[in-house]
Amino acid sequence: MSATPPWPELEAIAYGGDYNPEQWPRETWREDVALMREAGVNLVSVGIFSWALLETSEGVFDFSWLDEVIDLLHENGISVDLGTPTASPPAWFFARHPDARVVTREGAVMGFGSRGMASHSAPAYRRASVRIATELARRYGRHPAVVLWHVHNEYGVPVGEDYSPHAVVAWREWLRARYGTLEALNSAWGTAFWGQHYGEWEHVGAPAAAPSVVNPAQRLDFARFTDHQLRACFVAERDAIRAHAAQPITTNFMANQSHTTDLWAWAREVDIVSDDHYLWAPDTEGEIGLAIAADLTRSVGGGKPWILMEHSTSAVNWQPQNVAKRPGEMTRNSLTHLGRGADAILFFQWRASRSGAEKFHSSMLPHAGTDSRVFREVVALGEGLGRLAEVRGSRVRADVAILWDFESFWAQDLEWRPSDLLDHDERIRAYYERFWRDGITVDFALPGHDLSGYRLVVAPAQYLLTLADAENLTRYVAGGGTLVVSYFSGVVDEHDAVHEGGYLAPLQTALGVRVEEFLPLREGTTAGVDWDGKRLEADAWTEDLVLVGAEVRAAYLDGPAPGRPAITRHRHGNGTGWYVSTRPDAAGLAAVLREVYADAGIAPAGTPAGLEVVRRHGEAADYVVVVNHADAPATLALAGTDLLTGTASDNGLTVRAGGVAVVRTHPSLGGRH
Ligand code: GLA
Repeated sequence: MSATPPWPELEAIAYGGDYNPEQWPRETWREDVALMREAGVNLVSVGIFSWALLETSEGVFDFSWLDEVIDLLHENGISVDLGTPTASPPAWFFARHPDARVVTREGAVMGFGSRGMASHSAPAYRRASVRIATELARRYGRHPAVVLWHVHNEYGVPVGEDYSPHAVVAWREWLRARYGTLEALNSAWGTAFWGQHYGEWEHVGAPAAAPSVVNPAQRLDFARFTDHQLRACFVAERDAIRAHAAQPITTNFMANQSHTTDLWAWAREVDIVSDDHYLWAPDTEGEIGLAIAADLTRSVGGGKPWILMEHSTSAVNWQPQNVAKRPGEMTRNSLTHLGRGADAILFFQWRASRSGAEKFHSSMLPHAGTDSRVFREVVALGEGLGRLAEVRGSRVRADVAILWDFESFWAQDLEWRPSDLLDHDERIRAYYERFWRDGITVDFALPGHDLSGYRLVVAPAQYLLTLADAENLTRYVAGGGTLVVSYFSGVVDEHDAVHEGGYLAPLQTALGVRVEEFLPLREGTTAGVDWDGKRLEADAWTEDLVLVGAEVRAAYLDGPAPGRPAITRHRHGNGTGWYVSTRPDAAGLAAVLREVYADAGIAPAGTPAGLEVVRRHGEAADYVVVVNHADAPATLALAGTDLLTGTASDNGLTVRAGGVAVVRTHPSLGGRH
């Protein structure tokens, strides 16, 4: 089951972060590498924002300082993840190509002195990006220190949609390729509405801000186009590098922090998936959001080990209140990523910047210096990870899949939906959270994937569902799977047009129910659901359902449809399809899922509250990663050796409050295989 570790050169879990030596004098570089060694750092990402210092004017390159930095790192046994600096074109580029600037939906032309800024559709930007990537690959493609390429930075942020003249030209080409004829475009977009019908290609514009809502089908296509343009930039740079270099190539995703890019498609283009993750301070259980990001990253990468390219040692600097991590939190976060499949734990950034927009962002080496809690924890984490080399390549398996479909999110997020309380992220989190608390490991999947290996598939928010994908889900149920579908799913097709037959019609066979009318609730009001005589509280949304064979598992007690079905269950073929037409609170959802588990033949792990346990399956052994988020020690029935401490246990492993363990144990089946 083990994969080849991503970098045979690195015989360890990779540990380190973004390194920006150009912000510091040479004396500091020497101190940096000495301290990196002390911290156990073995990989740093270099050059991500260095374009202006590498290509000092158009076609004039200066690699001398980068040569020096890379050689210094190499002499000290530290490998390099080499960035292409194309997220930050130099001033000379914009002076020469003012037309290559990004234009917002409202028509504002973006200025210089930040990052991003360049239109991904501007031919001059594409040419310049490929040129600098080529020069870097020529020079460092065989350098023994360089083990990985890091193309660009976080595609889709801060530049996603672009309404510049170059983008509009490219958009028309993209539409021509997609639809072939104007008739097909008019039909797909439903332009008979509000008199939008087009008679000439030249009249088709980007969906710029307008007096009222712009055609949602047009906007959905523009989201697809944006993703396509960004990916084309990546592919162009990647291919330029591949022509001269042998190392693997990645670009850093933002799994659940940005929905601009369709990571399922992106993951097919990279050699190894990498992700950036930052806790969202208002979320007081950020470890659950973190676990979602990690599981999604692993899933888009097909289950292969991945790289945590960035996270923070403590506070970030870009949220309304930037909350510092508490002692031990950085280590817990790191181990959760590792448990969920990461073979590299990296940070933004090595040394805190003195100047610039990110000077209040935490780092491995803070402004306070080495005599600081953060640096001591960084050193301790490096030491701990140093004992985990054998974990590399092992895989996580899951019995449960949650559907995560970027196209559906793009469509659902457009204007004039039936309620502004419809929120796909919220629904996914609600279902995921129950699994997390029950100790059940989850993969994410697309509705068109082969789902037959999962006992349970949950669709918390599948607003857009193509007929082909609906058939796939129906086959999954017929084949013996258990499917749970939450409200406002199966509503529209790929053009954001309501399905013929009405809401949920494509899933009628699998679920035995369809939706006659949406019945959204006023904010602050609730509806009760009768669950075996117990009242479950729900809010935000209800529906008027029409039964087409399903049994009513629970009916509404009140709200707009008292006595009508709220939750249904349907046997189809060898499986079961559940439909939940409302938003139960956490206790209500727990009650429903308990019964769903029984249908699916899965059981909660029964781990103590606050204890996160994930198993990675290796060839000779399994590795159980245990993270204790609770304030009290917790004991787990597990035999094996904690690789972090060397302590062996026969059956009871106790993890201190806030502590972590990585236990080598005998291999088990279980989970998807
Ligand atoms: C992102 C970027 C980094 C840095 C961090 C700060 O992830 O990739 O360059 O700005 O955010 O949190």
